[in-house]
Amino acid sequence: MSFEKNILCIGAGYVGGPTMAMIAYKCPQYRVTVVDIDPERIAQWNSDDLPIYEPGLEEIVKAARGKNLFFSTEIEAGIRESEIIFVSVNTPTKTFGAGAGMAADLQYWDKTARQIRKYSKSNKIIVEKSTLPVKTAQAMERILTSADNGIRFDVLSNPEFLAEGTAIKDLQDPDRVLIGSTQTPNGLKARDVLVEIYSNWIRRERIITSNIWSSELSKLVANAFLAQRISSINSISALCEKADADVEEVARAVGMDSRVGNKFLNASVGFGGSCFKKDILNLVYLCRHYDLKEVADYWEGVVRINDYQKERFILNMLNIMFNTLANKRICLFGFAFKADTGDTRESPAIFVAKRLIEEKARVVITDPKALKNAMKDLESIAGEIAYVEDPYEASAGCSAIAVMTEWAIYADLDFKKIYRSMAKPAFIFDGRNILDHKKLFETGFNVFPIGKPGLTHF
Ligand code: UDX
Repeated sequence: MSFEKNILCIGAGYVGGPTMAMIAYKCPQYRVTVVDIDPERIAQWNSDDLPIYEPGLEEIVKAARGKNLFFSTEIEAGIRESEIIFVSVNTPTKTFGAGAGMAADLQYWDKTARQIRKYSKSNKIIVEKSTLPVKTAQAMERILTSADNGIRFDVLSNPEFLAEGTAIKDLQDPDRVLIGSTQTPNGLKARDVLVEIYSNWIRRERIITSNIWSSELSKLVANAFLAQRISSINSISALCEKADADVEEVARAVGMDSRVGNKFLNASVGFGGSCFKKDILNLVYLCRHYDLKEVADYWEGVVRINDYQKERFILNMLNIMFNTLANKRICLFGFAFKADTGDTRESPAIFVAKRLIEEKARVVITDPKALKNAMKDLESIAGEIAYVEDPYEASAGCSAIAVMTEWAIYADLDFKKIYRSMAKPAFIFDGRNILDHKKLFETGFNVFPIGKPGLTHF
């Protein structure tokens, strides 16, 4: 069977996998191949046990896999046979050299550009999907055209805005798709090819185009704005706890102003995830590079408040539990950085678990999807950590429960039963404000939400 287009994606991670599955599912006329250097990851994509958990993903992968969606390790053949190549490799924060702890580590991305150059035998459109510092598309174009072999590469920026846990919904019905291109005739032609692909299922007015640098910068700025809202409400949660106000009431009143809007105003133990911190630090690095100190400091404040919020959570626990956590069993409800994902990257639970171990507490971790990742994250920590999938079993004998992830199942647990099995006095620190605090208090718990006065029997 011949296909209208051959699309390749390099990188089978949280973005590449679901995005390509959606394109294949919506466009049976295209052949979509996803390649990765990690054979184990590819084997998982080809199995019944996909490497990432995402509601609705399995259904669309199963519907398209083997028909027009393929997962493979054959990068060379993939590059040769495709006209359009999405690059979705990871760009973690640099851990060494200049910009360590802040700038993006572009080594995988650089290697990928060189592979594309080496194996290409015909013109290609390259679509940058990884979140990258501004002007990397230009660098990509320079690497690609430096071979001078008569092959034309048109590089587009097409940042992905999907959020984990809702990836399939976000891909199916995105707020917008952004495509950045150079404003040359060739650049605009390449852009139109990508617009046509998305137009198979997305309304044209939701597909917006811009110059390539605006597109790259928009991704960093969108994440910085989102994270800023959380740090803003989290900073106010600290004030509410002191001033006997209720952060949810404040957020409701503020969010009902249609200019502000009511989403993303949930105070929490802190934001996590692979993007927010990394993208803000990239933005900060970029501002410093251009000597914009005030702008850099302003955005860095978003990360500082997030660190403060996590530390504040631990200090509150310590203070409330009589200034010692040593040998107390403390159960973390949830380890994922948010509900409906098994992903734990930058999860505040990692920080909390490590700090609890420093305080010589005994930590029990429960999570419906993230225990495997939790074990990896805490591998190097010497101390007592148990991993128990059943929350009833996990909390038995504990002095405190700390809610780290807003999994819906936690709100429906039988807390009377849990209370009976715990050491007394029993504490709940609700780092996500998802539980019924009054009811827990009446059950006998001492309850400490975020940004509200605690309910205590002392
Ligand atoms: C984010 C962006 O939303 C997405 O557009 C981008 O493509 C990638 O980064 P993601 O990291 O998957 O997506 O999750 P998101 O839903 O944004 O949550 C990030 C963190 O903020 C989580 O830890 C979440 O629990 C926390 N959060 C979110 C809050 O603490 N309060 C809120 O009100 C909202």
